[in-house]
Amino acid sequence: MELHLAGKVFIVTGGSSGIGEAVTRQLVEEGAIPVIATREKERSLQMVKEFKALGKKAHAIIGELRKIPFCKKVIQETAQRFGRIDGLVNNAGRNDWLSLEAGTPDRFSWTLIDNLYHYHALAHYALPWLKLSKGSIVNVSCRIAVTGQGNASAYAAAKGAQLALTREWATELAKYGIRVNAVVPSEVDTPQYQEWHGTFEKPAKHLKKVAGKVPLGKRLTTPEEVAAAIVYLLSERSSHTTGQFLFVDGGYTHLDRAL
Ligand SMILES: NC(=O)c1ccc[n+]([C@@H]2O[C@H](COP(=O)([O-])OP(=O)(O)OC[C@H]3O[C@@H](n4cnc5c(N)ncnc54)[C@H](O)[C@@H]3O)[C@@H](O)[C@H]2O)c1
Repeated sequence: MELHLAGKVFIVTGGSSGIGEAVTRQLVEEGAIPVIATREKERSLQMVKEFKALGKKAHAIIGELRKIPFCKKVIQETAQRFGRIDGLVNNAGRNDWLSLEAGTPDRFSWTLIDNLYHYHALAHYALPWLKLSKGSIVNVSCRIAVTGQGNASAYAAAKGAQLALTREWATELAKYGIRVNAVVPSEVDTPQYQEWHGTFEKPAKHLKKVAGKVPLGKRLTTPEEVAAAIVYLLSERSSHTTGQFLFVDGGYTHLDRAL
């Protein structure tokens, strides 16, 4: 299927690891121009070098998304360099695994800043450019937003707010032809996910137990499977899809996990 993404410019936060890296790579394969916005300097620059060696265009902007001026810089630098912005993938985030009991109000605020504020700041600053391109925003949330997990108060709040903002922005921006959707993964085999499993006494056993609860295939989702849904939602192939939550989770959230 031709996605018609060639020459289009997409910002991918956290675009050099896990789900973000898979999105960046699929955009390059489609002839689009990914702009990676992340704190991971070495890895991102290495990826950009790799793409350029293949004659492809890509760019990385290194910094801390918790800082709003950096979010502004990401939009300004992208627009200055490429003269257009066709879409935004709000993806960078991290679970702090803090319970209601252990997570102080200060820590709660910090995690919201870490996971939520940059989703808003980037969309806000990108808006004039997205109006011009009739662009697309994809917010990467998490199934914890709708199921809960335990020991993740602030992360759950941030992920839930991302879904609320997806509907809110889809409503507000429809008049500009801008579409806004969310992709909702659950158990995805990424560096962050493996790191979390590493905190258990028997990581391999725990991983097997979780994977066994995924109805479709009793396995983790791959980053590429999540990325494919994101790239579809960026493309005009999803031209009449907005305000949707697309769960890419092997049925983990909605099917009976006792299957
Ligand atoms: N892996 C999963 O199982 C899973 C499940 C559900 C939802 N998600 C969501 O998917 C998204 C990507 O997760 P992943 O597992 O690919 O993570 P990852 O840690 O492998 O990659 C995220 C990248 O973003 C960067 N990043 C994070 N916060 C940043 C910040 N404030 N400033 C700059 N860079 C920052 C990290 O350094 C990292 O390179 C997250 O929003 C996460 O909540 C992941």
